[in-house]
Amino acid sequence: MDKIKIKEKYYIGIVGFGGAGMALYKHFESFDDCSVISVFDIKEPAFERARNHRADLFLTSDFDAFLESGIDIVVVSSPDSTHAKYICRSVEHGKHVLCEKPLTDSVEGIRDILKCVKAHPDIVVGVQHQMRCLPIHRKIKDIVSSGVLGKVGYIEGYYVHNLTKRAFEYDNWRLVENATPLIYSGIHFVDLLRWVVDDEIVEVSAMANNICFPEYPESDLNVVLLKFRSGIIGKVVTAFGAGRPQDHTVQVYGNDKSIFNNMLFDKDGSFEIFATPIRNTMQGRKLAWIKETVIATYSKLFEWLMRSYPYNAQYNIGYYPIRLYEHSMAVRNSAENFMNTVKGKGKLDCTVFDAARSVVVALAGVEAYRTGKTVVLKDFGMNDIEELL
Ligand SMILES: NC(=O)c1ccc[n+]([C@@H]2O[C@H](COP(=O)([O-])OP(=O)(O)OC[C@H]3O[C@@H](n4cnc5c(N)ncnc54)[C@H](O)[C@@H]3O)[C@@H](O)[C@H]2O)c1
Repeated sequence: MDKIKIKEKYYIGIVGFGGAGMALYKHFESFDDCSVISVFDIKEPAFERARNHRADLFLTSDFDAFLESGIDIVVVSSPDSTHAKYICRSVEHGKHVLCEKPLTDSVEGIRDILKCVKAHPDIVVGVQHQMRCLPIHRKIKDIVSSGVLGKVGYIEGYYVHNLTKRAFEYDNWRLVENATPLIYSGIHFVDLLRWVVDDEIVEVSAMANNICFPEYPESDLNVVLLKFRSGIIGKVVTAFGAGRPQDHTVQVYGNDKSIFNNMLFDKDGSFEIFATPIRNTMQGRKLAWIKETVIATYSKLFEWLMRSYPYNAQYNIGYYPIRLYEHSMAVRNSAENFMNTVKGKGKLDCTVFDAARSVVVALAGVEAYRTGKTVVLKDFGMNDIEELL
């Protein structure tokens, strides 16, 4: 990577200033050596939001002007279908790129991005699959790779997020583009499961319905079964209309031990808690620190209660009471990993090649629920993509 030069300040441009763009603005601004200076969007309300963040941002609907605005890095947080063109134009212009997941939403998009990235090996292109960056998920991966579970037969992940308010809050692209839950969100867990078991998916079957959030186009619930090369079976549930708080459960079954979120169970009913809420996730922010401290204290109290519960091993305690998906921390960790790679101090947690494989599986899942047939990946008509991966 000859292109890498450590700079005192990296200037950032954001493409698409909606929910994800605003979150990434906050994280990049919090890095000492980064400053967001430009925003590209095609809709006036986005500029209003940007002006409310900072009056001196360069705001434009002209992508050439955006690329010429003095930026080193492009953050792509526009609708899924637009990622491929913005990534390619930015890379061709010599900019490092951090793109929101999914990498893209089409076979053509994958093809264009992979060809472009391969032609520019000195440019860093990362993908915001922040699920890989959570301490709990890193620990799950370490436990699975250590072999302590014995023979692993099953893994599942849940992306349950009630989007009935958020889906069309800043823009209607999810409606216009028919952004299927699996490609737009479930992909988080398709990617996470592939990464945890370090195996590739060879077959997909799926079902979908549109009952709980009928205003969402096509389907708001996607349930996908995945068969890995090793024979492991996986499941990803993506639900946008469930009347409940967010759920990002991960479960792994081994013949010796099994994982349920942050709990490692033995067949005799004993359990170990291998990840607990982390304090001081937002360094320097006193309120966040106090909040995290309160959560950590609660979790310790609950742990004590769980252990003092006179349980029957067959019907053991099954849940940990505190949420362990620290969204903001995950997004920040992922952006930090990208910046470290740009500075030559690390390696990307998720490359475009990794992310492209997850998109292929998600596209196969949509094909599976639309046709009602199991999709075998090698017959999915993507041989030219396989050559690029
Ligand atoms: N990593 C995550 O957990 C996460 C969370 C949410 C969204 N996302 C991803 O981020 C991206 C944006 O999602 P969001 O929730 O911020 O959407 P949003 O609806 O909140 O905002 C979309 C923004 O893009 C702008 N836009 C619309 N068409 C555009 C175009 N052709 N070119 C440039 N900008 C355009 C809109 O004006 C708006 O400002 C999507 O790819 C989504 O999948 C990722």
